[in-house]
Amino acid sequence: MSDDTLLFNKKIILGVSGSIATYKAIELLRLLVKLGARVHVVMSANAVKFVTPLTFEALSGNPVYHQVFDSNSSMLMEHIRIMESADLLLIAPATAGIIGKIANGIADDSLSNSCISYNGPIVIAPAMNDNMYANLAVKKNIELMKGRGVEFVEPVQGELACGSIGQGRLANPSTLIEVVKKKFNYLNDFCSLRLLVTAGPTHESLDPVRFITNPSSGKMGYAVACAARDRGATVTLISGPTSLKVPDGVQFISCRTASEMNNHVLQMFSDCDILVMSAAVGDFAPKRIEKEKIKKKANAYLDIQLLPTEDILMNVAAKKVSQLIVGFAAESENLEQSALAKLQNKKLDFIVANDISSPGIGFQSDSNKVIIINKYKDIKKLPILPKIEIANLLLDDIRKNINSV
Ligand code: CTP
Repeated sequence: MSDDTLLFNKKIILGVSGSIATYKAIELLRLLVKLGARVHVVMSANAVKFVTPLTFEALSGNPVYHQVFDSNSSMLMEHIRIMESADLLLIAPATAGIIGKIANGIADDSLSNSCISYNGPIVIAPAMNDNMYANLAVKKNIELMKGRGVEFVEPVQGELACGSIGQGRLANPSTLIEVVKKKFNYLNDFCSLRLLVTAGPTHESLDPVRFITNPSSGKMGYAVACAARDRGATVTLISGPTSLKVPDGVQFISCRTASEMNNHVLQMFSDCDILVMSAAVGDFAPKRIEKEKIKKKANAYLDIQLLPTEDILMNVAAKKVSQLIVGFAAESENLEQSALAKLQNKKLDFIVANDISSPGIGFQSDSNKVIIINKYKDIKKLPILPKIEIANLLLDDIRKNINSV
């Protein structure tokens, strides 16, 4: 399917809230209509103060909803009914107000009512003053919605209506069209596939108060789980201890040690189509866990004996039937050779490798620079990207290979 047919006949609800950028929604509507989308516009009470509903009505060829209780009985509650068969809700521009309302379930005008009654995919393009965009409450609302699978298109830097310069301008209509196209390209391409994802570090206790671990934040695995969920997969996420919010819409299994993670993975493996082992599983665990806290003795060494943990990927390789298996490798030297060796030894279909010596990316960070190697040893080098984008690119590769495993 060519890129330009992706939106053909799709029913898109364009939610428009009241901002100086409201006029840009006109161009966005024009582009959506040009690509064959059936667009219905819902405006907030404030949006109609910036642009008249008539403009959107003329360009979309459909009635515009901007009142909750329209005196024209044929329009009564239509802003809710219209959402039932919609393929996508795109809110652009989205003010801090509408973001806050949707995040917290407040429905007090036609746009917020429509949004809250909708269960399908949502893309939101914020536009507001840069200080408002940086406000912690706004950020929290955005994070809350991202956790529910809502996609945000960041505002861009530039001159703002208030005269200051900062990040707050609505993303370009052409950028928004690309995001919407990508969304439709991805929608449900993992439908009927079952993904098992591991994430985070493991903790191996030494005594009641100490443990051995590593700096994995779990962000990469959680991004894979969320991206797969948004693309229609049934996702089980097995996670070591992290400070991340449990994603909505995935089966979540929490564990602590490598041995616990091993047991959960082996138990779930036969029921999955794809295993993504992004967890940073500890390779060693203390031979003995002391019952009481180990006391320090002046100037004395503490000898701890460590035993290797179970290698989970080695264990599942022996049980593999038709599952596609993805491993990760965080290396400090010889990135490609080390990753290739792991790909072969662990009988993987893909390995995602990164160089942990690069500062500012990888562990803990929201972005990373990785290479993806497939079982035919094709190496794809990606630039520094947000982990959610890496997750989607990895899923693209997996999708292409899932029938040929
Ligand atoms: N892994 C695993 N079980 C372990 C250790 C690691 O399944 N006990 C998985 C990781 O989840 C990852 C891959 O193996 O997908 C590679 O992990 P990594 O720690 O880089 O490699 P190791 O095999 O542990 O080798 P080394 O630490 O010596 O580089």
